Amino acid sequence: MSEATGKKAVLELDGKKIELPIYSGTLGPDVVDVKDVLASGHFTFDPGFMATASCESKITFIDGDKGILLHRGYPIDQLATQASYLETCYLLLNGELPTATQKADFEVKVSQHTMVHDQVSRFYNGFRRDAHPMAIMVGVVGALSAFYHNNLDIEDVNHREITAIRLVAKIPTLAAWSYKYTVGQPFVYPRNDLSYAENFLYMMFATPADRDYKVNPVLAKAMDRIFTLHADHEQNASTSTVRLAGSTGANPYACIAAGISALWGPAHGGANEAVLKMLDEIGSVENVAEFMEKVKRKEVKLMGFGHRVYKNFDPRAKVMKQTCDEVLAALGINDPQLQLAMELERIALSDPYFVERKLYPNVDFYSGIILKAIGIPTEMFTVIFALARTVGWISHWLEMHSGPYKIGRPRQLYTGETQRDIKR
Ligand code: CMC
Repeated sequence: MSEATGKKAVLELDGKKIELPIYSGTLGPDVVDVKDVLASGHFTFDPGFMATASCESKITFIDGDKGILLHRGYPIDQLATQASYLETCYLLLNGELPTATQKADFEVKVSQHTMVHDQVSRFYNGFRRDAHPMAIMVGVVGALSAFYHNNLDIEDVNHREITAIRLVAKIPTLAAWSYKYTVGQPFVYPRNDLSYAENFLYMMFATPADRDYKVNPVLAKAMDRIFTLHADHEQNASTSTVRLAGSTGANPYACIAAGISALWGPAHGGANEAVLKMLDEIGSVENVAEFMEKVKRKEVKLMGFGHRVYKNFDPRAKVMKQTCDEVLAALGINDPQLQLAMELERIALSDPYFVERKLYPNVDFYSGIILKAIGIPTEMFTVIFALARTVGWISHWLEMHSGPYKIGRPRQLYTGETQRDIKR
C-alpha cells in the first residue's frame, strides 16, 4: 500500500472545509485522495484524466519531465540493450529479472503454449482478405475467450498465471497469421527451437515452398528490441481500458481484445502506421517546410510527435533511433525516408511552435522505419505494438486481480436536457 504522508489538502466547498488525505508512492508526485468530496455532493472533474491517478501500481514508473521510464525500477535503455524481451516479460509479470534457471524455465513454459487451438485458425476465414490485421486481432484474441473454460477462474492464482503465459505465447502466432491471411499465404506454425523474436519472423516470412528459410539474426535482434521498447507504459489508454474491462470481472482474453481496440487509434498505437503514411505523403525533403506550415496551421498533426506524459524526450525514441541506425547500417539500406524523418525532427526540435509545446519524437517516430527495413508491411505496425504490449496489459490485469479492486465507474458533468414529459 502507498504511504499516508500525514499531510492533508483542504478543500473549501460551500463554506465547509473537507480534509483530503495525501499519499506518497516511492517515486513521482504525491496524490490527493478525493473520495471524500463525494459526501459533499460534488464530483471531481478531469476529462482526459490529465491529473488523475486511477490506481496504485508497482510495475512501471514514468517521469515525463525528465524522460525517465522504469520497469520494476530498471531503466528502459538498460532493458532494451541488456535483457531479452522474454526476460523483460518475466520482470513485468513477476517483479524481478529471472535467474538463469528461471529464464530457461520461463522460455520453455512460453514455448509450450505457442500453438493455438486449431479451431482458432478457422476464424480467419470469416474475414475479408483485405481486412486490416488489427481488425482480425481484435476478433481472434477476443475469440480465445471461448477456448479456455477450464482455466478461466480469475480468482484462482494458477489460472491467472497460465492465462498470462498463454497470451504472451500465442499472440505472435495470432499476429503472424493475421498477416498471412491477408496475403493469402498458408499459416506457418510456430517453431519452439527458435527464440521469441525469431519465431515471430519465421511465422511471418517462411513459406512451405522455402523449407530452408533462415531468420536474419540482425533482424531478430532488432525485433526483440522493438518488442522490449513497447512492453509496457504505465496507465496509458489501452492499459487503462484493460484494467477497466478487467474491473468488471470480464475474462482476460476479452480484456486484452479491448486493449487492442483502444491501441488501434492513431493518437495511440496506430501512430506508427500513421508516421509512415505521413512520410509517404510528404515524399521528399523539399516538401518538409510546406508540411510543417500545415502542422502549425493545425490542419494535420506531426505523427510520432508529442506525448501526454513526456514533455522532455521519450527515452524509448532514443533507443529506437539508435536501433534504426544500427539496422539500416547492418542491412546496407540507405532509406530516403530516414533522411526525411531526420529533417522533420531537426525542424521540430528548433521551431518555437514545437519547442513551446514540448513536442518531441515519441516511440512511434522511428519504429516504422526499422519495421519497414525488417520487411514488415505498414498495416502490421500496430499489430507488432499490440503483440509486444500484451505482456504489459496482462501484468496490469494480474496486479489488479491480486489485490482488492473496485469496478471502474466514473461519473460525469451532465449538460443535457433537464427532466421533461413526453407530450403527444
Ligand atoms: N503535431 C502537432 N501539434 C501537436 C501534436 C502533434 N503531434 N501533438 C500535440 N500538438 C499540439 C496540440 O495541437 C496542442 O496545441 P495547442 O496548445 O496550441 O492547442 C498542444 O500540442 C498540446 O497537445 P494536446 O493534444 O493537448 O496533448 P495531449 O497530451 O492531449 O495528446 C498525443 C498527446 C500523443 C495524443 C498527441 O501529442 C498526438 O496526437 N500526437 C500524434 C500521435 C502520436 O504520435 N501518438 C503516439 C503517442 S506515443 C505511443 C503511444 O502512446 O501509443
